[in-house]
Formats: sequence, C-alpha cells, structure tokens
Amino acid sequence: MSEQPSSGGRPLLPGQIASWLRIVCFAAAALIVTGYVYLSVRKAPDAEADRRQAQKALRAENAKKGLALITEPGRNADGSYRIPVKDAAALIVADPKVVAKIQAAGAPAPAAAPAAAPAAAAFVKASDEQMKRGAAVYARTCIACHQPTGMGLPPVFPPLAKAPIVVGNPELPIKFILQGLMGPVTVGGTTYNSMMPPVPGVSDQDIADVLTYVRQSFGNQGNPVTPEQVKAVRAATAGRTAPWTTAELGLK
Ligand code: HEC
Repeated sequence: MSEQPSSGGRPLLPGQIASWLRIVCFAAAALIVTGYVYLSVRKAPDAEADRRQAQKALRAENAKKGLALITEPGRNADGSYRIPVKDAAALIVADPKVVAKIQAAGAPAPAAAPAAAPAAAAFVKASDEQMKRGAAVYARTCIACHQPTGMGLPPVFPPLAKAPIVVGNPELPIKFILQGLMGPVTVGGTTYNSMMPPVPGVSDQDIADVLTYVRQSFGNQGNPVTPEQVKAVRAATAGRTAPWTTAELGLK
C-alpha cells in the first residue's frame, strides 16, 4: 500500500552523484560562512584602531585649541576676557571621550577620602551664609574652567576636588586669584602646564568666600578663609601684575 520513493520510480540522480553534490554544496556554504566571519573579524580591529587614532588626534587638537584660547589672547583693557572662556571649555566638552573621563573620575571621587588637612588644625565648618556667597562667586568666576563638579577639564583645567593646593595654605590660591598662575603643576596624577588668568573684580570678601566654598566642597575639608587673610596678601603683593609661576611658589 505505502509507496516508498526509492522502491518505485528512478531517482532524479544516481545516489553517488547526489551525495557528492551534497558534500560540495555543504563545503561551499561552509567556505562562504568562514570567509564572511573571517573578513568581519579581520576588519574590526582596523576600524577600531583608526577610530582610536582619530579620537586621540582630536583630543590633542582640542586641548591645544583650548589652551591657546586662554593663554594667547589675554584680556581686554577693562579686564574682561577677550575670548570667552566658555568657548575654550566648550571645545573640550565637545569631546565625548574627555567628558566620559571626567565623569568616570567624578563619580567615585567624593566618596573617597580627600587629602585631609594636617591633623593640627581642628576642622571648622563655614557658615551657611558664607558657603552660599562663595557658591555665587564660584559660579561667576571659576565655574567655566574648573566646572560645576570641581573636576576641571583635564588636561587643560585642573580639578579643585581632591587637590592639596586647595586645602593647603590659603595664601597660594589667593595669589592665583589676584595675579594668576602659570607653569607645570600636577593635580590628581595629571600634569597641567597652562595658565590661570587673574580673576578681575573680586573683593577681599569675595575671595575669602569663594575659597571657603571650594575648601568645603567637592569632598574637600579645609578651614574657612577670612577677608583679613586676603587683605594681607593683597597688600603684600600690591604692584605685581605678572602671574605667579609654579616654580617660584615651589609647586610641582
Ligand atoms: C580661565 C580659566 C580659569 C579660571 C576662570 C579660574 N581658573 Fe583656576 N586654574 C586654571 C588653570 C589653567 C590652572 C592651572 C595653571 C597652571 O597650569 O599653572 C588653574 C589652577 C588653579 C588652582 C591650583 C591647581 C589646583 O587644581 O589645585 C587653584 C586652587 C585654582 N585654580 C582655583 C581657582 C579659583 C578658586 C577660581 C575662581 C575664583 C579659578 N581658579 C578661576 C584656570 C582657571
């Protein structure tokens, strides 16, 4: 009753040819798949290396441009920046790799123990009013370069978070704000060789407030700074217009 295909009519191809054909087809298919996989695998590292190379070049270019924008043009006669500092920062922010790096550095940073002030001086918490005033001065005068996170924008603007200079002797940052700072300085393992221009239009009170704010933000623990301390440094450095150099201040 049941009809077996082999029992009845003649097969389309003789059995041996059919099985050979099957083997050839299988081999061809295997070859195509292997070839395809090989090509896609072989291509990937090349494209990745090219992309990395391009990223690296772009990052170097952006860092160079950012640096040129802040170091070359200087400032107008009225003390304002000739080229908006934000443009320099934006150049660097436009690079996702740099931003990712900052974010990666920023995420775990506040949790880790900051470089604590020497044990000698007991920690004095600043008043809410002074912190509020300091935050306002920071937003007006430091934020474009040192960023809302205090992480700066490596490799041009150093971080104020976990920076020993920030919580150390306040005389130094007072000098940077009054006359500027240039020369190589290493913060958080990255060496910066850039220039911080003097910050125009800040009173003794403003400087005391902003330094107090940065010394007690971003995971820092430094004692408040008083307007009297600023006044003394301003008087001692009166007449100086050249930026301080890191070599001159013994900073590394
Ligand atoms: C135009 C950009 C710019 C502005 C605005 C600016 N800084 Fe800086 N700052 C820099 C650069 C660049 C350096 C590193 C200079 C060098 O390489 O010698 C620096 C260095 C510092 C340092 C020492 C390095 C470190 O990270 O501890 C401190 C502290 C500092 N700035 C505080 C401030 C404070 C506070 C303000 C606002 C009152 C401010 N800066 C405004 C660009 C800026």
